[in-house]
Amino acid sequence: MGHDPHPPRGTPPQRGWRRGRRRPGRPWVLCAAAALSALPGAAAQDYGSVCAFEGDPAFIDLGNDSVLKDGVPVSGTLDANYTHTYTYSSSNVTAFNQADEYRKIIINLEPCTGTVFLMVRKTRRCFPNPYSCIDVATNTRAPTECQWVHFMTEIDGSRDGTPTFFEVPFTTTNYFISVFAMENAAYELTVLADTGALPRPGNNGRITANQTEKIGVNLSWEAAYYSPAGVTSTYQYLIYSSVLLEDEGQLNRAVFFRKDKIMNTVCGLGFNTDEPVKSVDASTCVNGQCSAMVEALPNMRYIFNVVAESQRGMKFAYAGGVLKTDWEVVRQATNPDNSTLAAIGAVAGSLLGIIVMTYFMLLNIYG
Ligand SMILES: *[C@@H]1O[C@H](CO)[C@@H](O)[C@H](O)[C@H]1NC(C)=O
Ligand SMILES: *[C@@H]1O[C@H](CO)[C@@H](O)[C@H](O)[C@H]1NC(C)=O
Ligand SMILES: *[C@@H]1O[C@H](CO)[C@@H](O)[C@H](O)[C@H]1NC(C)=O
Ligand SMILES: *[C@@H]1O[C@H](CO)[C@@H](O)[C@H](O)[C@H]1NC(C)=O
Ligand SMILES: *[C@@H]1O[C@H](CO)[C@@H](O)[C@H](O)[C@H]1NC(C)=O
Repeated sequence: MGHDPHPPRGTPPQRGWRRGRRRPGRPWVLCAAAALSALPGAAAQDYGSVCAFEGDPAFIDLGNDSVLKDGVPVSGTLDANYTHTYTYSSSNVTAFNQADEYRKIIINLEPCTGTVFLMVRKTRRCFPNPYSCIDVATNTRAPTECQWVHFMTEIDGSRDGTPTFFEVPFTTTNYFISVFAMENAAYELTVLADTGALPRPGNNGRITANQTEKIGVNLSWEAAYYSPAGVTSTYQYLIYSSVLLEDEGQLNRAVFFRKDKIMNTVCGLGFNTDEPVKSVDASTCVNGQCSAMVEALPNMRYIFNVVAESQRGMKFAYAGGVLKTDWEVVRQATNPDNSTLAAIGAVAGSLLGIIVMTYFMLLNIYG
């Protein structure tokens, strides 16, 4: 099977902060025009009074970029306490006529760095209003008070820095989405009605590692799968690895690794590493088990992860893991005149210390 060209992506997030493009002078009525035309019977003045809060300058409409296309990720950067608004509409009859089991829509918000919340309203405007339930100044979060929301990220603090993945019944053609930043953040947002195009990490994204005789580790993972199956297949796996400093710790078990170093999202891996250390063709997997040899120096902590990429160009990250290489290190002065030390690795023979993170796939069903 050939490798189809990848869908165009949004501009990659920059390191450092770029203010979201703001259109302060843009009255909400203009923004509403496109959505209104899709909603016969709705009177413009209803929105004017009911959704007046959308006129607050904290709501940033990205113009044409705020209209999401199926399966095309958009990326954005947001300062703390700002909101990007997006709309998604589908008139795809084929997608609607699928069996209930497969008539689903995926809304996936991945942080590249920082904490972002996803809030979704179905069918009719207004956009979800994060300011009705979140006060950044006092770090107050009142999930039950969020207005104009049908479903949203768990905002109580337990999920700060984690991705939000919704796969919900595809029951309506229009979705109104707010992406809110709790702190300066960069994110990637994807809406996908053709859910079979997305690779899903096998065995809940678990990766295992085995020490080898050379100075390296053998990572293994279960092949990605698709639901429904048969829409596409896996093209390749991208392997990422990054050294952890001695004092770098994980603060919250739910976040991999920290919210300023997110290593379990495709865009976080891109943000924190220069490039994948390796790519592995999916055809090299045997009986649904894949593996890759990765170089690793003795007595260091590594963070690593695998990203599956489908023939359709959609990517999804595995859970990732941290390992400490535990080869026995013999320090030897190579030259008595200077103190240069050479590390000679001798295989210690024990398994690597490895933490396997549970990969969160939130399968929340909202009717
Ligand atoms: C937005 O999209 C419309 C219709 O596709 C196009 O005519 C217009 O030039 C676009 N505006 C910008 C700023 O890209
Ligand atoms: C956050 O934005 C809201 C809406 O614009 C505003 O009312 C609030 O004062 C802002 N909070 C901070 C800490 O800037
Ligand atoms: C409509 O949905 C079907 C099934 O999800 C998909 O295969 C097809 O590509 C979609 N068509 C368009 C034009 O997006
Ligand atoms: C690691 O190596 C040991 C010994 O060679 C083997 O028994 C075990 O199955 C391997 N584990 C993995 C995950 O490859
Ligand atoms: C790595 O591990 C996999 C599965 O555990 C095994 O099939 C493969 O042969 C190993 N590769 C190397 C180079 O040891």
